[in-house]
Amino acid sequence: MKGAENRELWGSRFGFVMAAAGSAVGLGNIWRFPYVMGENGGGAFLLIYIAIVAIFGMSLAMSEIAVGRATRRNPVGAFSLLGGPMWRPLGFLGVLSGFVILSFYTVVAGWTLAYIGFMLRGILASTDPTILAGTFDQFISSALHPLAYAALFMAGVATVVAGGISKGIERFSKFLMPTLFLLLLGLTLRAVTLPGATEGLNFFLSPDFSKVSVATFGAALAQAFFSLSLGMGCMLTYGSYLRRDSRIPSTTAAVVSLDLVVSVLAGLMVMSIVFSFGFDPAAGPGLTFITLPAIFASMSGGVFFGVAFFVLLAIAALTSAISILEPTVAYLVDEHQLSRRNAVIACALLCFALAIPSSLSFGHLSNFHILDRSFFDLMDHAATNYMLPMGALLSSLFVGWKWSDGAAAELSTHDRTPAAWIQGWLLLLRFVAPVCLAWILLSSAGLI
Ligand code: TRP
Repeated sequence: MKGAENRELWGSRFGFVMAAAGSAVGLGNIWRFPYVMGENGGGAFLLIYIAIVAIFGMSLAMSEIAVGRATRRNPVGAFSLLGGPMWRPLGFLGVLSGFVILSFYTVVAGWTLAYIGFMLRGILASTDPTILAGTFDQFISSALHPLAYAALFMAGVATVVAGGISKGIERFSKFLMPTLFLLLLGLTLRAVTLPGATEGLNFFLSPDFSKVSVATFGAALAQAFFSLSLGMGCMLTYGSYLRRDSRIPSTTAAVVSLDLVVSVLAGLMVMSIVFSFGFDPAAGPGLTFITLPAIFASMSGGVFFGVAFFVLLAIAALTSAISILEPTVAYLVDEHQLSRRNAVIACALLCFALAIPSSLSFGHLSNFHILDRSFFDLMDHAATNYMLPMGALLSSLFVGWKWSDGAAAELSTHDRTPAAWIQGWLLLLRFVAPVCLAWILLSSAGLI
């Protein structure tokens, strides 16, 4: 085991916040959040989502960061150091989830890169969504074209991670995240000033509680959890490079708030555009790649805004993918003494190999089904509905029950968090979070 004391650390608290917000802000915020909100009734969903993020997301994120900072290790090393060999598999679950998530994340990220080029070359210059749906389907179902973009994306991710913590991940995040915020602000301002955008604002801001059901809570919970990068040790690994004098509660609050703000702005932007042009807000996953290009084509200056939008998505995907690769790389470097460079090459190649069947499942392998699902859907479903909730469930039980004294000491000695807050936090981790997570797992399995 490599000495935990000479581990490379983030250069500054700002660097950590940008990197962790980079992990959290991803396709989940800009691609998934607006359509999930659109399908779940708008404003009412938003209120529930905010409450869940503030209570449940915040507690889980703090617990992962505390385990990382206390141990200065990767997920496998961290859980076995604090809990003994019995807890080692929990770390492995995280490493495995990383591969599974990257296999489909890379594919969608590749599409965003391709769409930057399509916008620039005028391939998307149509206002008819059926034509754009055809363009989209033709592109994603071809064999080599999307894979080439996925490979390009993966090469970018590998280059950043190979650069290390402060010179790679931190340096890029400190530049890319502010760029992302500026792009998003610019696009949102443009969107809300479009004629007819007020309808989108109304949809967003006037909660319709008749649309709220138990399923709404489930959707909000699953979204919160994916959006905050919880359940596979991303936050844990990033926390392991954190200086002891950076306070966990306020630092985590900064990351969680940035993530929330980005989701809200992305929702506002997408809904304003969609309503302004009279499209259906509940169009589902195609909203980004089909509906939005149709709208950009009919807007003045649409090519410019379209390119800005897909650059925004690509940046968001890049900083998230970096954080999905890092725990596995950290594991190989800490526990198997691989050089960072070799660890990155090995992981990136393996992830890309897994991305191949994922990408082909929209074309040549579309009839190849495992458990009634295409490879892409299977990976997405296994990670989002089972592996991540399971990882988060076990880690909240771990921190709430097994390591609670250590966790309390970590937050009181280093961060001087008031005792009552720590007690409340532990109660959430002991009872509330496990019940919510067990509920997600059971309902995914169709048992409740
Ligand atoms: N949070 C990212 C998004 O919103 C995706 C992501 C990065 C993630 N790391 C993760 C999801 C770890 C689950 C677990 O797109």
